[in-house]
Amino acid sequence: MRSFFKGMGVGFKGMSVGLFVSLLSCLQANANGFATLSGHGGPIMGLAYSATGARALSGSFDYSVGYWPDISDETSKPIWLEGHKAAVNSVAFWGKIGAVSGGDDFALIIWDLATATALHRLEGHKGKVLSVKVSKNQKLIASAGWDGRAGLWDAQTGKHLRWFEGHKSSLNDVAFSDDAAILYTASHDGTVRSWDVATGAQRRIETRHGFGVNRLIINDAQGWLVYGALDGGTRVIDIKTGTVLADITLDRKPILSLALNNDASRLAVGDGNGYIMVLDTADWTVARDFRAVKAGPVWALAYANDGRLLSGGLDETIAIWPLDGRIAAQGPDKQPFHRPPAEMENGERQFVRKCSICHNLGSAPDRRAGPPLGTVFGRRAGTAKGYSYSSALTSSNVVWNEETIMELFRIGPDALTPGSKMPMQQIAKEQDRRDLVNYLKRVTRAHDTR
Ligand code: HEC
Repeated sequence: MRSFFKGMGVGFKGMSVGLFVSLLSCLQANANGFATLSGHGGPIMGLAYSATGARALSGSFDYSVGYWPDISDETSKPIWLEGHKAAVNSVAFWGKIGAVSGGDDFALIIWDLATATALHRLEGHKGKVLSVKVSKNQKLIASAGWDGRAGLWDAQTGKHLRWFEGHKSSLNDVAFSDDAAILYTASHDGTVRSWDVATGAQRRIETRHGFGVNRLIINDAQGWLVYGALDGGTRVIDIKTGTVLADITLDRKPILSLALNNDASRLAVGDGNGYIMVLDTADWTVARDFRAVKAGPVWALAYANDGRLLSGGLDETIAIWPLDGRIAAQGPDKQPFHRPPAEMENGERQFVRKCSICHNLGSAPDRRAGPPLGTVFGRRAGTAKGYSYSSALTSSNVVWNEETIMELFRIGPDALTPGSKMPMQQIAKEQDRRDLVNYLKRVTRAHDTR
């Protein structure tokens, strides 16, 4: 029987979440020792923890990487690493001073954390990069791409070394063996495969799960691999024989995140329903199972050295769970809108569903991926103060008004402002476009100072 630790309605001290409020960048702990790191302006897609110090990395839908130099210090502030042109899906530490990230812009970036600068931009993937991993000896970086390939890169120079090709669909995860001689890959094609790092040749199909495999962890020391899949499947496979050692499939899907603690005694599994299940790897029994967020997925998990677990998802904060004690906390209850979308008029609903995750309606940028839209009417493209635009927008002559915004979503940003880092999207119905623009006009008037 699984046991559920019911939330006790723990409030979030000082956390004010709302469309018009930019989030504080700091760590906050509540009475139960449950802490949160806030500052990102979009969902958290990737997390990593470093044994050197109590450092963490976060990758977000807001296009940035957060570097948290000391998560044990409540006054510690994040350092933002800006450079990706789309959502950041995966982050990993490299050596003592470096990091690597991969994103929806098909690129990887190697960062120098001491100076918060990008050292190398690794290009070549023709699809989103869903996962990045660094080999134990810190010499190699592997990437999983939605172009169906895994990439291998020199961590020092950023040079591309080779592709691993053969999967029949997009790759979601990669993992090195301890000696970096073997690369394991997990794909939407339902298989986990292994490859010879030196030659690039496929060694074998490790397992055929059938449904897309999202996450993969290799435990070389104990001779098993574990994966989490689209259908909720969480399976442990003996690497030598290929036999299934354990199948911990619950009625929740998909599995979106996995993390192994320091001594490999605990495996945390995050799913699409906001639950985190912690397994005891000695016998694969469920040690804990709790709801981390009231709604939405647990995209990212990472274990800290002291056994605390970091989690991230739709909510823009990173939660830190003290798993040694009794969990009496319930995750962030984010309610950015006052009413359910069904009760909104169409224009507002369009905005809430299609724009609000990247744009605020104020006049200053927050940590969302896009510029503020509160003063958009009459504004020339690419001119909101304090926001870092692509050159496509700064060199554009478009002035935003009812017609041009309608046009933007009739033909798509890629057509009206080619090279824009706003993702391709169109709003098919003219009435939806009109309602959206009317809503924007109405709610932004208050901010309009011209
Ligand atoms: C996934 C994130 C994302 C979503 C969703 C999104 N945008 Fe954007 N938007 C951006 C980014 C990033 C830019 C800046 C583009 C650049 O610099 O190339 C931008 C730019 C804009 C601009 C130009 C602003 C300026 O100052 O020049 C407008 C207008 C705009 N978005 C409106 C919208 C509306 C309306 C929606 C919803 C229908 C929407 N966006 C959805 C990310 C997004």
